[in-house]
Amino acid sequence: MKTLAFNRDASITEYIAYYGEVMGKAFEDILPKEWDIPDALRQSMTYSLLAGGKRMRPVLAIAAAEALGGCADDVIPAACAVELVHTYSLIHDDLPAIDNDDYRRGKLTNHKVYGEAMAILAGDALLTHAFHCLAAMPLRCPNVPPAAALAIAAELAYYAGAAGMVGGQAADILGEQGVTTLAQLEYIHTHKTSDLIVFSLRAGGRVAGADDAQLEALAAFGRSIGLAFQIQDDILDVIGDSEKLGKSTNSDTERNKVTYPYLIGMEESKRKVAELTNSAKSALADGGITETRRLLQLADYLMSRES
Ligand code: IPE
Ligand code: IPE
Ligand code: MG
Ligand code: MG
Ligand code: MG
Repeated sequence: MKTLAFNRDASITEYIAYYGEVMGKAFEDILPKEWDIPDALRQSMTYSLLAGGKRMRPVLAIAAAEALGGCADDVIPAACAVELVHTYSLIHDDLPAIDNDDYRRGKLTNHKVYGEAMAILAGDALLTHAFHCLAAMPLRCPNVPPAAALAIAAELAYYAGAAGMVGGQAADILGEQGVTTLAQLEYIHTHKTSDLIVFSLRAGGRVAGADDAQLEALAAFGRSIGLAFQIQDDILDVIGDSEKLGKSTNSDTERNKVTYPYLIGMEESKRKVAELTNSAKSALADGGITETRRLLQLADYLMSRES
């Protein structure tokens, strides 16, 4: 039964707000009440998940499915899974051993509230739970063939793991110590950030029965908007407003991170964000996806974001 469908005429900000709220509701009872979980661990996990955030990866997954005539309900498990993984990645990214940040999503970072040990464990448990959500897909979403659910699970392991987001984070840490070239920086950014975005779009596509060419077009779109997204994140670390961002600015300079503004300058970085957004849009146009309106609007929204 189709329960989620959003007014076609709504603006992209209304679209994001609507599906962001849908996700918030899904997260309220994501951990079954009957599971016997230590209180501090349950609290630490829900603290970061319910702190908000833009929930862009779930929204991109839903928009990709809708672009191919799929329905948002069928994307919810995959959308939950990617946001669980993303939230774990942020909790670990903020730890003293990685970026040592104190604020996230407008609140104290997880380890500042629950301590480092519990923050590490909350991240571990969020990651594990993502695969539980995917395993429940065939039961929850009878329209989605079990083979598609399995392919989505395999892709989450790939895009979130050593060759994906974790690999990008490792390269980011290694980059703090040495000389980083533009090619190395592109490796860092595409893996630490684009990969979960690519996963989200492909998962939405798979739920809607995308063929290989359509999946590749969604991935190409995701690689470009993902890189643009991380360059914009680097830019905002320098010129953004920490209140709007919900996290501290100047964190990259303090950690001696090599970023796009550092390596190619602020103006060139802004130009690159615009250029990547345009290539993302062309990739989509070439991929045989007809209903691209929301994805194109999301690309523009992300390019001009201030938070
Ligand atoms: C922050 O991601 C980390 C990056 C990959 C740049 P978001 O900017 O999507 O963070 P939330 O989810 O909105 O908090
Ligand atoms: C983090 O990149 C990307 C992740 C995989 C978590 P950043 O370290 O630049 O993200 P922020 O600025 O802390 O959100
Ligand atoms: Mg980092
Ligand atoms: Mg960080
Ligand atoms: Mg950053």
